[in-house]
Amino acid sequence: MRTQVGIIGAGPAGLLLSHLLHLRGISSVVLEKRSRDYVERRVRAGVLEQGTVDTLVEAGVGGRLLREGLPHHGIELRYGGAGHRIPFEKLVPGRAITVYGQQEVVKDLIAARLEAGGDVRFEVEDVAIHSPEDRPYLTFGGERLDCDVIAGCDGFHGVSRPSVPPGVLRTYERDYPFAWLGILARVAPSSEELIYARNERGFALHSMRTPEISRFYLQVPPDADVAEWPDERIWAELKARLETVPGFALTTGEIIEKGVTPMRGFVTEPMQYGRLYLAGDAAHIVPPTGAKGLNLAVADVRVLTEALAAFFHDGSTGLLDGYSEACLKRVWRAQHFSWWMTTLLHTFDSDDDYGRRLQLSHLDYVTSSEVAATTLAENYVGLPFP
Ligand code: APR
Ligand code: PHB
Repeated sequence: MRTQVGIIGAGPAGLLLSHLLHLRGISSVVLEKRSRDYVERRVRAGVLEQGTVDTLVEAGVGGRLLREGLPHHGIELRYGGAGHRIPFEKLVPGRAITVYGQQEVVKDLIAARLEAGGDVRFEVEDVAIHSPEDRPYLTFGGERLDCDVIAGCDGFHGVSRPSVPPGVLRTYERDYPFAWLGILARVAPSSEELIYARNERGFALHSMRTPEISRFYLQVPPDADVAEWPDERIWAELKARLETVPGFALTTGEIIEKGVTPMRGFVTEPMQYGRLYLAGDAAHIVPPTGAKGLNLAVADVRVLTEALAAFFHDGSTGLLDGYSEACLKRVWRAQHFSWWMTTLLHTFDSDDDYGRRLQLSHLDYVTSSEVAATTLAENYVGLPFP
């Protein structure tokens, strides 16, 4: 078998890449370890930057997103007994975010790929990368796929990054001393906009998916086990951290999903080796506080699509050679913003009273200075693509 681009992983990065390449007349095969059902149900984040929405709409996969996605023009920062709105419409006019679950994006992309006759294979076993330097090929389940280029879109735990010989890649990492416990609940959101709550008991986030489904997160110890978090404990903790302003009451409901996510920042440099190009979580991870993970994956794939189009249509390798450099500026901006949001809002056991006062002063500044609030808003809605 032969294809132009062998893509490992059917997450947002791999699926969108396959679709964008198809629109440019470039062939690809997507190899995914899990079942279609599994990837379509896997609950992840749900905040799309303006540029992500525009990319999906321009690629013809934004129909349901435009119908069902929830446009948001602000978020609330809640601390010290008060809520403070960051008004995007005023600070970054014309730019907003859309709340739409990542697995919905995945469903839409899979449907579009299959409708266009795309080759997406699920439950593929033992994908391995061979000779990435030159004449690359993939093997899986006893088959061989020859490719001009390989795209490693297989997430943080995939095979692509470890296929690069030792010593080539440099990694940068920051682990946080806490995790997020995330839940989905069958209950109408108790707020119209997302609430990021800083609390002495730990951070809490009120998000949502639809007018009937809410999403919440709690800062928990790094080794937390969902078994220690029965539903009543989760609701009690969410109430303790969110019912801190007059007149706000949290409506509870049936919890339909629970999971613990570690919090880390991670970057690989460069994001390429020979004819292997890494995109999305395979190359970098951000703590979810800034909601940047999916958006960064989309940004990488846009850059890679342009570079591959120049390569396959004009034989020019300049953009491919500069792929990593072109992506890393945005990757590091997102790393910084995610670290900044995380330190602004979480409690750190290592913090002393002085540190806690600094954090509150920082929050007061962000919520009272238009310049400081604009920094948050501009990064949150996403910087424009170059
Ligand atoms: N072979 C084939 N597929 C693999 C392998 C493998 N060895 N290892 C992992 N995969 C698949 C995973 O099952 C998953 O479906 O690769 C896919 C990677 O998808 P994601 O983890 O969703 O990563 P990405 O597409 O880069 O999207 C980034 O996902 O993790 C979130 O917060 C992150 O929102 C961000 C987004
Ligand atoms: C989510 O809705 O899943 C979500 C929202 C905002 C974040 C992270 C996750 O910062």
